[in-house]
Amino acid sequence: MNPPSVAAACRLVRKVYGRGETAAVALDGVDVALRSGEMVALTGPSGSGKSTLLHLLGAMDVPDAGEVEVAGRILGALDDEDASAFRNRHVGFVFQFFHLIESLTAVENVALPARLLGLAEPDANARALDLLRRVGVAQLSERFPDQLSGGQRQRVAVARALVNDPVLVLADEPTGNLDHAAGGEVLELLATLGKERDVAILVATHDPLVTRRADREIRLLDGKVVAPS
Ligand SMILES: Nc1ncnc2c1ncn2[C@@H]1O[C@H](COP(=O)(O)OP(=O)(O)O)[C@@H](O)[C@H]1O
Ligand SMILES: [Mg+2]
Repeated sequence: MNPPSVAAACRLVRKVYGRGETAAVALDGVDVALRSGEMVALTGPSGSGKSTLLHLLGAMDVPDAGEVEVAGRILGALDDEDASAFRNRHVGFVFQFFHLIESLTAVENVALPARLLGLAEPDANARALDLLRRVGVAQLSERFPDQLSGGQRQRVAVARALVNDPVLVLADEPTGNLDHAAGGEVLELLATLGKERDVAILVATHDPLVTRRADREIRLLDGKVVAPS
């Protein structure tokens, strides 16, 4: 068997918000490598840099120094348009507050990234329905987000994150707005589907359940990687 490949990496990444007196060092020399098929918990106190790291890996922002590589591409060189196309193609996102589009049905929400990639509607919808089946909410495919529970919305968000077969899924507190049972189910889906599809999953979290279920933990403190406590 081949060793698992590196899906995403940060090398000596530094990120500073603001300038001068008010400058805040959010990340300070961060080295991280994520392998395909592993689920990693990203932990650390509030303000330690977790969301910043996810933004850099998701091509939503660029580092002040160092290098971010995803799917074999160095992200710094991308302009805005290329960055959003890259993100849509290679990276899936799951957020604490779901971020589904309220005017679209569940299946339309999941199909949207595939439509943006250029798939025809029937193909995109077929892909989306397959994934909704996998996350256990196919029967709710025609509902709008406000007709779904939090747990159901997050399942739809997981399906959406996977629809373009990304190399990397970034999840920021995905269980933070769910009760224990629903959070556990969503986590189980991320873990199982990530392995099945050989996706690297990075989950920023305060939830001990996530840390226990993950393959390993990366802990941040004041913008630096430290040993897990
Ligand atoms: N857009 C921003 N502008 C200014 N400072 C920011 C911004 N985003 C984050 N920060 C600062 O960077 C540090 C890390 O924040 P963040 O990455 O959000 O941490 P976490 O997700 O671990 O709570 C904090 O000191 C925070 O105040
Ligand atoms: Mg955060």
